[in-house]
Amino acid sequence: MAPLTEQEVLTCVEAAGRAPSIHNTQPWLFLPEGDRIEVHADPSRRLPSVDPQGRALHLSLGAAVLNLCLAVAATGRRPFLDLLPTPGDTRHVATVTVDGPYTMDDDERGLYAAIGERRTNRHPFLDTPVPPEASRRLEEAALLQGAVLKFVGAPERELLLGLARTADERKRDDAAYRAELRNWTTDDPYREDGVPLDALGPWNEDDTVPIRDFTPDLERSGTPGREFESEPVIAVLSIIGQDTPADWLRAGQALERVLLEATRLGLAISLFTQPLEHSDLRALLADPTGRTHVQAILRFGYAAETTPLTARRPAEEVIAHGRPLPLRPTRLG
Ligand SMILES: Cc1cc2nc3c(=O)[nH]c(=O)nc-3n(C[C@H](O)[C@H](O)[C@H](O)COP(=O)(O)O)c2cc1C
Repeated sequence: MAPLTEQEVLTCVEAAGRAPSIHNTQPWLFLPEGDRIEVHADPSRRLPSVDPQGRALHLSLGAAVLNLCLAVAATGRRPFLDLLPTPGDTRHVATVTVDGPYTMDDDERGLYAAIGERRTNRHPFLDTPVPPEASRRLEEAALLQGAVLKFVGAPERELLLGLARTADERKRDDAAYRAELRNWTTDDPYREDGVPLDALGPWNEDDTVPIRDFTPDLERSGTPGREFESEPVIAVLSIIGQDTPADWLRAGQALERVLLEATRLGLAISLFTQPLEHSDLRALLADPTGRTHVQAILRFGYAAETTPLTARRPAEEVIAHGRPLPLRPTRLG
């Protein structure tokens, strides 16, 4: 099987880089070599305050890995995925090897086409319910990647909203958390990472939806708030297995598959992961059987207004030629 051409590598890396990542940090580097593309974590893009364990970093990398596999498949080659392939080198998170010819099915083609459309929408959603058939498809998308997506009823929703409020309150006076947010939000139209101010939604007046406050330093008084949907549709994504970096990478793939499926279904999505950033709050959501581990909380709905795509660093900038990092193994977790 012919190795990927230079243009195909660029296309694949560009698709991988469209993945969602915590605060749009894009914590990845790609190393194309012969018939494979290695994916490495970029530790300079870690968020020590919000993500001390590196769990969100691995979820972001896992999402990029799913896109990369879909993009390799779209070239007509079978992607063979190996997670954490180098023992002792935790930065080398995945290798995708080209493994013979491949024809995508309609489902995969649809997911691949959704990569360039998917985005986070932090605006109010319409009060239109998500049909059961759509939630079933999203649950199936998660299961196909070894995860469980559970839509919650009213009591659990109230619990999640309460936990998000508690998490927000705890972080409000955390100088390191605020500094991280300042570093990773931007009003610079030329910046290619970070969360741009125009991707942030309006202030949620009645506090029914736990949108993360990305700009706690900006004065709110005088800014008109907006009403959000009264009964947000919320689901919890949990990975089946353990709670290790390899599981977080698998969870990232599941997260991205759910997000791409939702995009295909015409649904808008936002994430709120604040409750999972405190181990005691996350523990309150733990599966008593220990079979699954909660990794993300998502909100689905129909967009009243669309939001712009956020910027990404160009493929050439995230491709490392030669070894991207010192060979000395470094622990990320
Ligand atoms: C692990 C993870 C956690 C995230 N947590 C939040 C969150 O708590 N609040 C939020 O508004 N967005 C969250 N996001 C979405 C990112 O901010 C978003 O993906 C990034 O800014 C890029 O924008 P895009 O999704 O529109 O491409 C999260 C994304 C990932 C991968």
